[in-house]
Amino acid sequence: MKLTIIGTGYVGLVSGVCFADLGNHVTCVDKEEGKIEKLQQGEIPIYEPGLQELLRINADAGRLSFTTDLTNAVRNAELIIIAVGTPSMAGGEANMSYIYRAARSIGEAMNGYKIIMIKSTVPVGTNEKIKAIIAECSSYPFDVVAVPEFLREGSAVKDSFHPDRIIIGSDNPKAAAIAVELHRELTDNILVTDIRSAEMIKYASNAYLATRISFINEIANICEKVGADVTEVALGMGLDQRIGSSFLNAGIGYGGSCFPKDTKALIQIAGNVDYDFKLLKSVVDVNRDQRNNVIQKLEEFIGSLRGRTIAIWGLAFKPNTDDVREAPSQDIIEELVRRDVIVKVYDPVAMDNFRKGFDHPNIIWCSNAISATEGADALCLLTEWPEFAEMDMRVVGSKMNNAVLFDGRNVFKRELIHHLDFQYYSVGRPH
Ligand code: UGA
Repeated sequence: MKLTIIGTGYVGLVSGVCFADLGNHVTCVDKEEGKIEKLQQGEIPIYEPGLQELLRINADAGRLSFTTDLTNAVRNAELIIIAVGTPSMAGGEANMSYIYRAARSIGEAMNGYKIIMIKSTVPVGTNEKIKAIIAECSSYPFDVVAVPEFLREGSAVKDSFHPDRIIIGSDNPKAAAIAVELHRELTDNILVTDIRSAEMIKYASNAYLATRISFINEIANICEKVGADVTEVALGMGLDQRIGSSFLNAGIGYGGSCFPKDTKALIQIAGNVDYDFKLLKSVVDVNRDQRNNVIQKLEEFIGSLRGRTIAIWGLAFKPNTDDVREAPSQDIIEELVRRDVIVKVYDPVAMDNFRKGFDHPNIIWCSNAISATEGADALCLLTEWPEFAEMDMRVVGSKMNNAVLFDGRNVFKRELIHHLDFQYYSVGRPH
């Protein structure tokens, strides 16, 4: 098929590469000229394992191209995918302006029947508004299909080619059948629903996963008080097939561009129809407290933080990404700096992104994990990059002022670290 994708963020870019690799002809459109120029040269603006190679292969094969010319890209396509961002506004509501602008541009450029597929995460009812906007600008026939995206950063390529399921929301069986055909090679698990249900499935899925994380984090907090070990508890819970073992890793809470935004947006969506989503509000509160607890815990472990030196391992909101949006590291480092702490930070790929958003004379940007720990009064692990688990902790301990380790992601084996004379603290496990 001839596809055009509007928006070259995570979802747009990864979908573009994936559909091209399946043999479709894909044009990716973005209004940022600099971004498009780089993509044309085969460079991707994000760190995502495997994506750059696959992009080059498909661009070289002539199946994937990049442009700022939306009008021509729309005219040449049979199916247009909207994958622009829906960032949070004050109050948590999702900002729909990019979506509506894209819909208007599509409507103005139309030259015949098109299917418009919405991959962006949009509040219930948005697809109908998109339909109305396009209809206002165009007299050509078209269908709007909601196909929410479930890929994760850091494993986006794998997730795109091996999705657990594809959800297709449509009010026209013919358009739904074309959307099914486009995804058929990826999975047998394709569920066709009405449009509003498809929109809701995306929010409900993210909200549920966030709920599991806040749930296990609260269990972890109780474990600390009663002397249980949350990793054992999660293991035991996960053996129940009704519960399952994923998304039960306790830690310093969820971050990223999706869970924080989508949980707040769903609370707002519920509020708009006079429903008080109490459970999800608590999920958000627990997540905020979980990262705030880190500072309090550090004080318990090493006393007043003023004037001390703290090493930070990991800035990204999770491993295998350079994304620091809503990462726990942001709040934690900003609070440490506020308390006159010297913060020595290291992350394998996310340092530039973090620094663009926040810099301070108290922050020392280190070129490797060991140098960050030199002279530190404590080390905090905030992102579970594999290289941290593989460090020689004996060497790390010898570089530090005090061998104190706060493991915010429960990466290390307690016995091993104790054996190395570290004071070791983690989340929801006995000290
Ligand atoms: C999430 C969803 O998992 C995807 O299905 C969805 O498509 C995406 O949001 C989106 O809406 O675009 P992502 O934000 O990339 O994907 O990352 P996750 O792997 O879900 O992790 C989110 C956060 O939860 C991370 O900060 C991670 O550290 C944290 N987490 C995850 C935990 O604290 N504990 C866990 O057990 C699992």
